[in-house]
Amino acid sequence: MEIKESTALVTGANRGIGYVFARALIARGAATVYAGVRDPASVSGEDLTPLRLDVTVPEEVAAAAGDATIVINNVGVGGFTTKLLTGSFDGARQAVEINYFGTWAVSRACAPVLGTKGLSAADHRLVPAAARRSAGSVLGTSSARSQRRRIHER
Ligand SMILES: NC(=O)c1ccc[n+]([C@@H]2O[C@H](COP(=O)([O-])OP(=O)(O)OC[C@H]3O[C@@H](n4cnc5c(N)ncnc54)[C@H](OP(=O)(O)O)[C@@H]3O)[C@@H](O)[C@H]2O)c1
Repeated sequence: MEIKESTALVTGANRGIGYVFARALIARGAATVYAGVRDPASVSGEDLTPLRLDVTVPEEVAAAAGDATIVINNVGVGGFTTKLLTGSFDGARQAVEINYFGTWAVSRACAPVLGTKGLSAADHRLVPAAARRSAGSVLGTSSARSQRRRIHER
C-alpha cells in the first residue's frame, strides 16, 4: 500500500482510533485525508479534509465515494447497548447497522474507484487493519471476529 501522495478516506476520524489513523496517514505523506464524520465541525487539524459521512445514510455514503485509494473503515459502536444480558435488541440492531452494513456500504461505494487504481472491484475484501500490496486498499478495524468472518465471505 503506497501512502505517500495518496488520497485516503478514514471513517470516524474525529476521535479515537480513527483520528490516530488520519494523523498517521498525514505523517506518512498522504496528500489528502478525508475525515468522514457525522459532524464536520468535530474534525480538528487543518490538514484533514472534513467530509460529512454518517455510514448509515446512503446519500452521504454515495457522496463520500471520491478518489480515495485507501479507505479505512474505522467507524464502529459497541458498549453497554450491545451487552448480551443488559443491552437491548435495538442497541444490537443499531450496532449491526453501523458496524456491518455501514462498513459494507462504504466499501461498496468506494470499490469502483479503487478498481480503477489497480484492483478489480470484484476482488475487494475488507481487510482488518492490514495492508494490501495493491494500489487501492480497503481496511477495517472491527474487533468482532464473527462479524469479520461474515464480511470476508463473498
Ligand atoms: N477501542 C478499542 O480498544 C478497540 C479495539 C479494537 C477495535 N476497535 C474498533 O476500532 C474502531 C474505533 O474504535 P474507537 O475506540 O476509536 O471508537 P470511538 O472512540 O467510540 O469512536 C467511534 C467513532 O465512530 C463514529 N461513528 C459512530 N457511528 C457512526 C455513524 N453512524 N456514522 C459515522 N460515524 C460514526 C463516531 O463518531 P461521533 O463522534 O459522531 O460519535 C466516532 O468517530 C471501532 O470500529 C472499534 O470497534 C476498537
